[in-house]
Amino acid sequence: MKNKPLRVTELAWNFLRPVLECGDIVVDATAGTGQETLFLCQCVGETGRVFAFDIQAAALQHTKDTLEKSGCADQVTLIQQSHELMVTTLKAAAIGEQAVKAIMFNLGYFPGGDQTITTQLETTMVALEGALSLLAPGGLITLCLYPGHPSGCAEAQAVIRWCEALESPFVAHHFRTLNRQAPPTLVMIQRTR
Ligand SMILES: C[S@@+](CC[C@H](N)C(=O)[O-])C[C@H]1O[C@@H](n2cnc3c(N)ncnc32)[C@H](O)[C@@H]1O
Repeated sequence: MKNKPLRVTELAWNFLRPVLECGDIVVDATAGTGQETLFLCQCVGETGRVFAFDIQAAALQHTKDTLEKSGCADQVTLIQQSHELMVTTLKAAAIGEQAVKAIMFNLGYFPGGDQTITTQLETTMVALEGALSLLAPGGLITLCLYPGHPSGCAEAQAVIRWCEALESPFVAHHFRTLNRQAPPTLVMIQRTR
């Protein structure tokens, strides 16, 4: 952290690191440049499996390059598909009875890409319902939200409202910087049993 403000992406990593173990199955729901996919690979090791979704071929190519440079490409299944289809895709990938230990969402647009192609409130909410159904006891869902642009604001509000209504065994937390205008925020959902 040193002299820089803590970013919500780092905060998500800090929560996930102690929870993830070698051999876990995990999902990056928004691969983008692949930084989170790489992080997940490093956490679950060679015996783990990472499923990474993105709707854009350019994003998945970027993720593939990131993984190849780090020697992690074999651990990852890259899927060019909307994350709202996560449940059927993972079941088809024969993950069997093993539940998913972590699902990361970093909402918004592909950094350096077309800013009009962004996550959408409707599909994000479907993906979140699916993510709950896949999550292992003790697992985490993390969402980095960017309310600083209009569609990001509506999406963030919808996610937070939905989280407020979650029932046991799910517990939802919201982390926000207090002294910045419309800062990115982190939502984290735990499955306690
Ligand atoms: C903020 S970026 C993710 C950043 C990324 N995790 C990284 O390490 O660079 C959001 C990504 O979500 C992707 N996306 C948008 N809608 C999606 C959807 N319905 N399903 C999966 N990915 C989607 C975008 O193409 C974009 O690459």
